[in-house]
Amino acid sequence: REVRVFAPATVANVAVGFDILGFAINRPGDEIVARLNDSFSGVRIVVITGTGDKVLPTEVEKNTAGMAALRLLQHLGEEGRGIELEIHKKMPFGSGLGSSAASAAGATVAVNELLGAPLTRESLLYFTVLGEEVADGSFHADNVAPCLVGGITLIRSNDSLDVHHLPVPTNLHVAVVHPEIEILTRDARAVLSDTVLLKTAIQQMGSLASFITALYTNDLPLLGRSLRDHIIEPQRKKLIPGFDQVQAVALQRGALGCSISGAGPSIFALCDSGYLAQAVGQGMQAVFQDSGIESQVYVSPI
Ligand code: HSE
Repeated sequence: REVRVFAPATVANVAVGFDILGFAINRPGDEIVARLNDSFSGVRIVVITGTGDKVLPTEVEKNTAGMAALRLLQHLGEEGRGIELEIHKKMPFGSGLGSSAASAAGATVAVNELLGAPLTRESLLYFTVLGEEVADGSFHADNVAPCLVGGITLIRSNDSLDVHHLPVPTNLHVAVVHPEIEILTRDARAVLSDTVLLKTAIQQMGSLASFITALYTNDLPLLGRSLRDHIIEPQRKKLIPGFDQVQAVALQRGALGCSISGAGPSIFALCDSGYLAQAVGQGMQAVFQDSGIESQVYVSPI
């Protein structure tokens, strides 16, 4: 018996909620296959595809999918079972699209299904975050939560994994542009200052609270005014060549807001229609192209 799952890419932070907000997009996404095998016990990674010239570890404890599956198996008291995992990467690492979270989420969902679905999606969160932690050394669920449950999610606390679904305004779409540059989350976290000025914290609280209000009231103009990152984007944008021009083009073309997707280098722009998101995505891509940087554009409803 085997189970194959699709685990979508996600946009974390969403400009106003560093480590606490994220949403899923409909593509790209990783595929994970889990299969029972009676000839051994524990988890084995038997196939990894789609990593290009990069090598992902096949040691279970060093692999996000492997670790997530192993911790789940241990929690369920099923370590005596043998589980083979296939990991088919459909998005690059270090892209800002939640690549490691997707593999970890795909692994826990596939293993849970294989064992008769003893846990809910929400209860898979903890094991999935333990898996993702292998990749970036920090425990945050802003990619994992929307990857597992879909939509836009808010994390009140990463320690207790208190996660909530937020409403999605009608017609909200996103254009995500992934330039072919690699930024590891670990490195993008290392550039961040530990302290925030009080006046900056006040601006960010205003943005976050208004963003959430806009989601609940379907108020897209307010959502647009709220999508400003006062804390993280100013510190990280230097890691992405041409960020200011890409953001300017997205806003000129009518995006509601534009910022860094997760730890970058991908950049997302929220738009009030799929048609506009296409045009915005093409405009953003053209800026990268002008500086000789190849990129992929993904447009998705949220
Ligand atoms: N919130 C995380 C960050 C997402 O921006 O570092 C990337 O894993």
